[in-house]
Amino acid sequence: MRHVTYKGLTFEPYIAADRIQTRIKEIAAQISDEFRGKNPLFICVLNGAFPFAADLFRACDIDAEITFIRLKSYEGTSTSGKVREIIGLTEPIEGRPVIVIEDIVDTGNTIVNLTETLRKMAPSDLRVATLLFKPDSLKHNFSPDYTGFEIPTKFIIGYGLDLDGMARNLPDIWILSEQYDD
Ligand code: IMP
Ligand code: MG
Repeated sequence: MRHVTYKGLTFEPYIAADRIQTRIKEIAAQISDEFRGKNPLFICVLNGAFPFAADLFRACDIDAEITFIRLKSYEGTSTSGKVREIIGLTEPIEGRPVIVIEDIVDTGNTIVNLTETLRKMAPSDLRVATLLFKPDSLKHNFSPDYTGFEIPTKFIIGYGLDLDGMARNLPDIWILSEQYDD
């Protein structure tokens, strides 16, 4: 079977690039319907969401703006649930509809923390679009407004998602193979 390896781990094909693009067009059509005339601000959460954000934003045929943020954890790992500082949000969002673009919602720690912080800035609407969602991993009462694909609690790479910084440039999404586990 076709596979890729990174850092000694083997991955199998999971979601092909054309399926990703088809799904993104569907989400973009829905967002365009709901936000036409409202000039929403898309907020792309770097690094992982950049391919999704680029494709989703281009597929929306409405007036809209986009900006890019990073989240800096004060302590612990990215999934530790600690306080995260937003880096790079220079646009005022008060009174404005905001659509956060994420690559993946796993435990939900990141997105819940981020949306709580953004909500304090009083946007007129706050939505979350995530390409991938692992509902079985979720530790919060949260559901994304727009989801590309619901997936099981397994590790995936490609199309922005990384393994220690690698594999973000793969056009398809790949899943960790159990066959090759040692
Ligand atoms: P959460 O805070 O647990 O929802 O997950 C946040 C971050 O964990 C995501 O933004 C990703 O950077 C990373 N992550 C979670 N699952 C995966 C995966 O399957 N592959 C690559 N990164 C992942
Ligand atoms: Mg991320």
